[in-house]
Amino acid sequence: MEQYAIKGGNPLVGEVEIGGAKNAALAILAAATMTDETVLIENLPDVRDTKVLIQAMESIGVIVNRIDRHTVKINASHIHDLTIEDDYIKKIRASYYLLGALLGKYRKAEVSLPGGCNIGLRPIDQHIKGFRALGANVRIEHGLIITEAEELRGNHIYLDVVSVGATINVMMAAAMATGKTTIENAAKEPHVVDLANFLNSMGADIKGAGTDVIRIKGVSKLHGSEYTIIPDQIEAGTFMFAAAVTKGDVTVKNVIPKHLESISAKLLEIGCEVEESDDAVRVVAAKPLGHTHVKTLPYPGFPTDMQPQIVVALGLSTGTSIVTESIFENRFKYVDELTRMGANIKVEGNTAIIDGAERYTGASITAPDLRAGAALVIAGLAAEGVSVVDDIKFIERGYEDFHIKLQSLGAQIDKVNTERELQKFKLKVG
Ligand code: EPZ
Repeated sequence: MEQYAIKGGNPLVGEVEIGGAKNAALAILAAATMTDETVLIENLPDVRDTKVLIQAMESIGVIVNRIDRHTVKINASHIHDLTIEDDYIKKIRASYYLLGALLGKYRKAEVSLPGGCNIGLRPIDQHIKGFRALGANVRIEHGLIITEAEELRGNHIYLDVVSVGATINVMMAAAMATGKTTIENAAKEPHVVDLANFLNSMGADIKGAGTDVIRIKGVSKLHGSEYTIIPDQIEAGTFMFAAAVTKGDVTVKNVIPKHLESISAKLLEIGCEVEESDDAVRVVAAKPLGHTHVKTLPYPGFPTDMQPQIVVALGLSTGTSIVTESIFENRFKYVDELTRMGANIKVEGNTAIIDGAERYTGASITAPDLRAGAALVIAGLAAEGVSVVDDIKFIERGYEDFHIKLQSLGAQIDKVNTERELQKFKLKVG
């Protein structure tokens, strides 16, 4: 099974290009099925999640022409099935974005009920609440979510929790409903705004995305479009914290600094220098990291998808830090792995109390999920000695060429397949 082999100790130095936002791409790919005309999507991240969603779309008849690694042409005029097979939703939950897209366009869709995952139960009651408010009949039978509607009519929907997925799914269905829809308590993430902009480029009428009240006037038809996906603020934040943890000097390029404000603020707070320019942010960790407190919140708060990365950094800081995870109920699973590298962290409920350690030491560790996996790689980059990270398929779900980008910044990291390759790596790094 593929692993990352890492020899820690090198400060990361240099520039790294950030790719398109995975979580915007998944929503936009699904929304591209809402027109019978051709859609061109650029800056698509070449990661496992987007590949699997494209396969799910092709399985129902969507034609996807890959122009290059980061560009696809999509035509959904010949969809022949409205049921998304189980194994796609098992691979990525976001296949359920096809519910909102196909319900909006065809008034019918079926997708397997996504299970929980390593970070929490991940209910979808708010998605269902939104579809029902628009007049759809939604039932769960034999593990399938079946949605259908004689007619979709606009409505006033108040989300009980701030949910990115529910905001996105309901926005898509409402975009082609008859009449006006208001979504209150909507998620404000950059990828919600990116989807709204994409739908509007196809002729939708959506206002207020990025605020907690989104107003939608339904249209009967959407047309083709050419669209470029925004940069991935979580990939950028991951490299910014990698610079902090390895005492490096890294510039993330092709980013939108405003999307990184909460991440930059925390890096400044723990003693890093942060320089912003139009489409780049430079992080210099010139002195030992200080402690801080952070609570994950919906955007523009500190992102839950950056929680493992800041915990790895605070695990090497001076003093005691407190990190509270307010979005998901089980997102500290990786702490056991980090403890094996020398971290002093006590998890009580949804709070981690972190006493900064002198150093991490290399160990064999397993990635429990996408973002925690990336954070454990960062810990390995700072650790003394060699670390081996298992289950890197999780990391490759959301990070394109992760180890190659890290190598370009001076990291000693390789992807290894066999014990022999691991031994060769150990000989190489000495
Ligand atoms: C999206 O998940 C992202 N995934 C997650 O990123 C991210 O962590 C999360 O938003 C929060 O930012 C994609 O965009 C594909 P939510 P999503 O609905 O939409 C509760 C990654 O690493 N909730 O905003 O599933 C839920 O349990 C992934 O890229 C309900 O109660 O997140 C959670 O506590 C990991 N009922 C909270 O809301 C619902 O119907 C926020 O979840 C929906 C959600």
